[in-house]
Amino acid sequence: MALAEFLEDLDELADAAVAAFAAATDPKTLESARIEFLGAKKGRLKTVQKKMGQVDKTDRPAAGKHFNQLKQRIDQAFAAARARLDQGASPARQSKKEPFDPTLPGMSVTLGRRHPITQTIEELKEIMGRLGFHVADGPEIEDAWHNFEALNIPPEHPARDPLENFYLSVAGSNDEPMLLRSQTSTVQIRVMEHTPPPVRIISLGRVYRPDTADATHYPMFHQMEGLLIDTRVTMADLKSVLRMFATSYLGGDVHIRFRPSFFPFTEPSVEVDYQWNDQWIEFGGAGMVDPNVLEAVGYDPEQVTGFAFGLGVERLCMRRHNITDIREFYKNDVRFLHQF
Ligand code: FA5
Repeated sequence: MALAEFLEDLDELADAAVAAFAAATDPKTLESARIEFLGAKKGRLKTVQKKMGQVDKTDRPAAGKHFNQLKQRIDQAFAAARARLDQGASPARQSKKEPFDPTLPGMSVTLGRRHPITQTIEELKEIMGRLGFHVADGPEIEDAWHNFEALNIPPEHPARDPLENFYLSVAGSNDEPMLLRSQTSTVQIRVMEHTPPPVRIISLGRVYRPDTADATHYPMFHQMEGLLIDTRVTMADLKSVLRMFATSYLGGDVHIRFRPSFFPFTEPSVEVDYQWNDQWIEFGGAGMVDPNVLEAVGYDPEQVTGFAFGLGVERLCMRRHNITDIREFYKNDVRFLHQF
């Protein structure tokens, strides 16, 4: 077979294939055109390819080159036709489309909002800011010094039990155990280590404890830590600040009470409760900073005193909004979250 004849067949075939793909107005027509021209067994391109064997041996390289070029052109035409139909831009569909009506109402955009706990945190910062407390931050992954030791919690203390904490399997730089902090009191230590007195800070953030989830407990929750160190600070100052805080956030009708308690890092210590539906609910712990803690961070307990408190943010938010189950916060149910 002469080379010219082969090339002519090939060109005709390519033109026909490109035209057929371009004319296809729906996926079905395109698929039959594909089978006709590109079908693996009986496609027309395959038939022409077979004829290449009849071309004179010396002309075969030129025939092969031309064949490859045209096959590429046909493939591209097919891909373009498929993309056009996928986008629904076929001439037939376009003509069926309704004309654009600028008077129709637009699609409404649903606005997201911040999580109720984030909103609460912002409000707590604002209230405490008015009382002169600055915001401090600390890491959620802690070492034993900041989570326990400096807070007067010695190695044999039950609060350090692996069953009470989320220890990490990766040790810290000195092979020390690391854990997810179980309280924001860690930030007291970090601040005092770097700040000479007087100190007046709050710190809000996540803490972690292997508590079973129920209506008032969750294994991850938020605390607001407060710390005030100065000369001649007394328990009366602590009580005034917590009462002012509670009435600002929860409202003038809230009753709060202090119950004697124990924390290794405060002496004396109290639990702080509020009254809700005829029940007393604990929302925090507090007390005067233990002299051992002041010494651990290099303060002189003869010169300065102070108070500290740690409040559960979820429990505050629950009381404020009448939420009866803490687990609602973390179900990610927009019907619940949308209400705040
Ligand atoms: C503490 O964590 C102390 N660090 C508080 C403190 C700070 C005392 C400074 C003295 C000085 P406690 O374990 O009681 O204390 O926790 C404080 C508050 O966190 C609780 O009153 C409660 O409101 C909240 N809380 C505790 N466990 C959970 C939990 N599993 N889920 C939700 N809230 C919790």
